[in-house]
Amino acid sequence: MKQAKAKGNAIIVIGGKWGDEGKGKITSRFSKNADIVIRGTGGANAGHTIVYNGKKIALHLIPGGIMYPQTTCLIGQGVVIDPKILIEEIKALEEMGVPEVKKRLKITGRAHIVFPYHKDLDGLYESFKMDPVGTTKRGIGPTYMDQDTRSGIRLYELLQPVEELEQLIKVAITPHNQLFRANNMEGVMADAHKLAKEYHQYGELLRPMLERDPDGLTSRAYKEGKRVVVEGAQAFRLDKFVGDYPDVTSSNCITTGTLLGAHLSHKMVDKVIVVVKAHDSRVGNGPFPTELPAHIANDQVISYDEPYEGDIIRENAHEYGATTNRPRRVGFFDAVILATAKDILGADYLCINHMDTIGEIGKKLGSVKMCTSYTYQGKLIHHYPDDIRLTGEIPTPNYEEFYGGWTIPSTARSYDDIPETAKEYIKRIEEVTGIPVKYIGIGPDNEDIIERDV
Ligand code: GDP
Ligand code: IMO
Ligand code: MG
Repeated sequence: MKQAKAKGNAIIVIGGKWGDEGKGKITSRFSKNADIVIRGTGGANAGHTIVYNGKKIALHLIPGGIMYPQTTCLIGQGVVIDPKILIEEIKALEEMGVPEVKKRLKITGRAHIVFPYHKDLDGLYESFKMDPVGTTKRGIGPTYMDQDTRSGIRLYELLQPVEELEQLIKVAITPHNQLFRANNMEGVMADAHKLAKEYHQYGELLRPMLERDPDGLTSRAYKEGKRVVVEGAQAFRLDKFVGDYPDVTSSNCITTGTLLGAHLSHKMVDKVIVVVKAHDSRVGNGPFPTELPAHIANDQVISYDEPYEGDIIRENAHEYGATTNRPRRVGFFDAVILATAKDILGADYLCINHMDTIGEIGKKLGSVKMCTSYTYQGKLIHHYPDDIRLTGEIPTPNYEEFYGGWTIPSTARSYDDIPETAKEYIKRIEEVTGIPVKYIGIGPDNEDIIERDV
């Protein structure tokens, strides 16, 4: 028997660090010629900034590829959906003039639904912890938790008659309400009857977009050689298995988890593009070896006279969360994490965004640095250690210094248009990570990307 096809046709975009690398931008760029664009993991914890007709919008659930009128966009089975946010997002896109949103958007019936009690639980679990994760409080963890205990409610369940939905919600909320009661949170205890009525209505609004055969959709796309783009959410170090557990999200957001969430098999993959910025950022708690000091306390910028290096990077790169508006922690580029990520992500190419910004930052700081190895347990190492919980030590970065201070003209469209100093920075990233840099971001717009022959 002959195989249908030797090679897949899907481009998978995955975050290489702690999120907010500019996945939305590069995915939208790839979606320009795509047939199908899929979100596979996470929920409204993600905030993916795209620019449509010169206007910026941060999308939380709908793939950015929706802005191109030939695309079909799928919200896949790995995504947890807050229907209120989704309905608002559909409306916002329609108001922006994006054509036929409801016709082109498909939602798998298997996607789990985020209810208000999940958000209350998110806050409650955080309050129990000595070291909170610093979640987005979007109810992500508790919704996946209900999926695991098999009391979750999916879009399919939302569409059942309201009385049946009420019964399902009753079962789901029983342990949660006991927990709320035990913590004097009677005020947020969920009322199955009210929720069933309200959420059934949301289900009905989403019904026209229900996709009953999501595996068939991707299978046909594969066989017919259609162009598929997958918009990863979150990132390598936020993956619940391989990331900085417990300071992670509650999904598997590396390549393999994203494929499952997006209804794809490994055979359907053409290329994996790992996205990073030319500096690093993290929002929420957890280890961040190259983090620089900044005037941030309790997720707020506090007033200061003299900025620290971290303040300079944050302000130049506008590092404020697209979902929560929290100031992001920032640091110099860590190439060691990417060297560690290369094989587990199956990285084919790197996209480095914010090459414009790091040039400007270099002007302000006099130079920029890159972490190319760590000192850990008294030794020089070239990978991210797995046992930092055991040793209690966060690896110390060893830096190489670069001139920085370059200006990349916004009109630059080829690699030749980039200053030599910036090329040296890119070359060093390739040497340390072993991943070719094919895409270079020089601004927030979809067109602000240089594609290079590698
Ligand atoms: P995502 O979650 O990975 O999609 O990234 P976010 O949208 O949360 O954060 C990325 C931020 O960087 C957004 O504000 C983008 O508009 C911006 N951005 C992306 N690429 C570039 C770039 O190459 N240069 C500049 N200056 N900004 C960029
Ligand atoms: P995108 O797709 C940055 C972080 C949160 C917190 C941890 C757990 O825009 O890159 P959660 O609410 O998921 O339980 O929070 O994960 N986090 C992100 N940080 N970008 C994201 O998404 C994130 N999604 C979750 O800040 O530290
Ligand atoms: Mg983001």
